[in-house]
Amino acid sequence: MKDPVRVVVTGAAGQIGYSILPRISKGDAFGPDQPVILMLLEITPALTALKGVEMELIDCAFPLLHGIVCTDDPMVAFKDADYAFLVGAFPRKAGMVRADLLAKNAGIFKVQGAAIEKVAKKTFKALVVGNPANTNCLILAEHAPSIPRKNFCAMTRLDHNRTIGQLATRAGCTPSDVEGVCVFGNHSASMVPFIEAATIKGKPVREVIGDDEWIAGEFIKTIKTRGGAIIKARGLSSACSAANAAIDCMHDWICGSDGKIVSMAIMSSGKYGVPEGVFYSVPCKCKDGEWEVVELDASKQADALKATADELFDERKTRLSDYIFDPMIADARREFHVLKARMETSKIISKSFAERMEIRKNIVTKQRKEFWEKSHHKDEMKKKWKRKMEKSPFAVDLVADQERLDEEMKFQKLMEKRKKRAETMRKKSLEQRIVRETAQKHAQDLIRKRQRRERERAHKNAALKRSKSAGSVARRKRGSRPPTADVLSPYHQLEERRQAMRAHMEDLHELARQKLQLQELKRRRMMEEQHKQHDYSGSYRKF
Ligand code: NAD
Ligand code: LMR
Repeated sequence: MKDPVRVVVTGAAGQIGYSILPRISKGDAFGPDQPVILMLLEITPALTALKGVEMELIDCAFPLLHGIVCTDDPMVAFKDADYAFLVGAFPRKAGMVRADLLAKNAGIFKVQGAAIEKVAKKTFKALVVGNPANTNCLILAEHAPSIPRKNFCAMTRLDHNRTIGQLATRAGCTPSDVEGVCVFGNHSASMVPFIEAATIKGKPVREVIGDDEWIAGEFIKTIKTRGGAIIKARGLSSACSAANAAIDCMHDWICGSDGKIVSMAIMSSGKYGVPEGVFYSVPCKCKDGEWEVVELDASKQADALKATADELFDERKTRLSDYIFDPMIADARREFHVLKARMETSKIISKSFAERMEIRKNIVTKQRKEFWEKSHHKDEMKKKWKRKMEKSPFAVDLVADQERLDEEMKFQKLMEKRKKRAETMRKKSLEQRIVRETAQKHAQDLIRKRQRRERERAHKNAALKRSKSAGSVARRKRGSRPPTADVLSPYHQLEERRQAMRAHMEDLHELARQKLQLQELKRRRMMEEQHKQHDYSGSYRKF
């Protein structure tokens, strides 16, 4: 007996899950001698329903079923997984197209892809059933980059089987009589059912059917819209046929297709004019767990083949805009990029700052070194010269001469300094004498002026007394009281005080004027002195 393989089924409590699990357990997918361990993944709210499915599976007592694991954690479900049927996704409802599910289901495949990347076996193989199957498969593969792309496949086997079923019904034969059909492109209304290389009991289909109009019209339309028709009729999407198609697909892929053509949506590689980048359904033959694309002449359908490829590339473009799937992650990612850019900028700035500091440090060090070397060199030269002098036969005389010369220079400098000081002192005392003499002269003038004014005032007073005594004679004649000669009237006393005050004020003004003149004189002298000193120092610098 072979070792059991771990088979993951996502959405195991759903419709397809319910149909597919007994078939896997019975050996329909991996062969009648291949035991399996079922790894059943569901969302948390569906775990109770899943428990019921598990009980039923146990009750079936399938000999090949060696174990069941039920979980809501993808990391547990995909741990060491060999194969997976990725069914768990929301099915479309009436009035929807499969691409409408893109935004809803893409996130599921992103998470599961990441889990596969981390914990699944590197030989892991996955069949994606959840819609839109082709683009979900792309998302899954992109998030599990260490698993080869050829190990991922999206399911178009249902469309393939539907094509066989329609032809067999029309031709009145069994499906096993029909061979060589396939479906190109997307699992959507743009798919291209292809019967040009197909046969019924070995004869070309067109010949057997004999009704090209039906083939081009009703037949193609039925295949393309079968999913919608089932939803309309059942109120639910296809389940038993989908589960059967998934089993067929996995069986032929792993166990071989016995030379028969089967449809599989695999990573495009340029074949049939479809560039790499999308999971595109093509005719394949499978052997030893590997598929191989079968080259058929589909040149007449080239436009239709391109149209369905374009639709897949459009879905891919939409998928690449991560905002649709997870706005929060997109925001975080945008913030991360902004932060990263800022960090890089600040790194550059601090780097250039450090560089600048380094350059500056080098310059300063160099300058210091040069300065030190220079000064050291100077000292060294002096010492050298001294040593040389000491060694010379004339050294003593020369040194003595030099010392004497130095002494003389010093003495001369001292004398000059003293001379200058004496000159300054002489000038200063001269100025002081001038100032003193001028002040004395002014004071004498002032005294003289004052004496003159006093004399004049005495004269005036005498004249006034005389005129008053004349007045008293006249008054005596008129019989009034005669005034005493030495007592002045209050009016005259006031007048006298006023004059004395005026004279005193004039004296004060005169003194103030003289003081100002003296100050001005002093200021001028100082200015001249400063001017001379400046000239002297200027000439000294020049010297
Ligand atoms: P369903 O609603 O009956 O079952 C889906 C199950 O998936 C549910 O039990 C649900 O809980 C589960 N699920 C949801 N999110 C999950 C997650 N993140 N992880 C695990 N499980 C999760 O639907 P169904 O009829 O079984 O169809 C499933 C999918 O298959 C749908 O998307 C449907 O459109 C698609 N489908 C594809 C084809 C085809 O040919 N490719 C055919 C039929 C159906
Ligand atoms: C189908 O073809 O039956 C499935 O893809 C379900 C659907 O939404 O059509």
